Amino acid sequence: MSLRALADAAGVRVGAAVTAAPLRSDDRYRHTLVTEFNSVTAENEMKWARLHPDPDRWTTVDADLIATTAHEHDMAVRGHTLFWPHLAIPDWVTGQTSRAEMLAAVADHCRGVFARYGDTVARWDAINEPMHWLEGRLADQPWLGVIGPDWPIDVFRVAADAAAEVGVAPELWLNVTHADVLSEKQALCIELAQQLLDAGLPLHGIGLQTHCLVPDFIPELPTPEHLAAVVGAVADLGIEVAITEMDLLAEPTPAGLVRQGTHYRELLSAALEQPRLTEVTFWGFTDAHTWITDHFGERAPLLFDEDYRPKPAYDGVADALRHRASSLAREETVR
Ligand code: XIL
Repeated sequence: MSLRALADAAGVRVGAAVTAAPLRSDDRYRHTLVTEFNSVTAENEMKWARLHPDPDRWTTVDADLIATTAHEHDMAVRGHTLFWPHLAIPDWVTGQTSRAEMLAAVADHCRGVFARYGDTVARWDAINEPMHWLEGRLADQPWLGVIGPDWPIDVFRVAADAAAEVGVAPELWLNVTHADVLSEKQALCIELAQQLLDAGLPLHGIGLQTHCLVPDFIPELPTPEHLAAVVGAVADLGIEVAITEMDLLAEPTPAGLVRQGTHYRELLSAALEQPRLTEVTFWGFTDAHTWITDHFGERAPLLFDEDYRPKPAYDGVADALRHRASSLAREETVR
């Protein structure tokens, strides 16, 4: 049974980040993607600077390919991302010194995105990584200085208003890093979500990126208990929760790959116990294409090897989905 079939039975999305180049040129890449997953996230192609590099110029060919492929194969799209304070926002926006002009640029961008992808992308990471990468404080420059200390609330409101103006109602999410391991970040992320909800904004859910064991940054793996606790804390706000960018670095030896499979199984089984967890997305699916190799060396972080053979990691994920599917089936029988 494919991951996709298991996820359907478990009532969740199982997704992967994709890039346009291999989607276009490599049949194995495309075939594995559409067979095994029911959701996709564009790894870079829907980021602001890629989609809309200048005020009057849109470059949508790659993003369109991803959206069309998803549509043809009955897959959902997670839009990534309207606003990423750390990266991929064009200089003409980051260089603004007027609050009104900066927010007008965000509004214009969001309207353009919603007008183009309103029919195909129903779930957006409205703000990606609103916090500092490692510390429990907001991402700052230049947003804090120009927009002000409540910049995430202002940006989120602009995105929500833009959707309403265009006449679409996509889900708007926050997507956060390392809340799964750093308790300061967990606390701030819950606080921020509460502020958005208190302001009456339509926050649909929180995505936990869950990049595990990133060298030099996050040397420890989340424990299943801690991950379940973060997932539970989001669910307690009454909103959805997702794992949105999971990868897990391995020692690329047979024993290392088996351990990796165990970690995937244990972490995801714990997270999937929570009914409000509606999506598990990996940051890629084959070790042939992963940002980890470019940034951190060969660490085999994904579910398929470079030849598209399923690894123990694949079996670990399949077991976790199967477990949720059987619990769901049991509950339905009782009802
Ligand atoms: C990464 C891409 O994978 C790389 O190709 C790119 O060079 C930088 O961005 N958190 C995120 C993603 O939210 O957008 C990042 O993607 C990985 C970390």
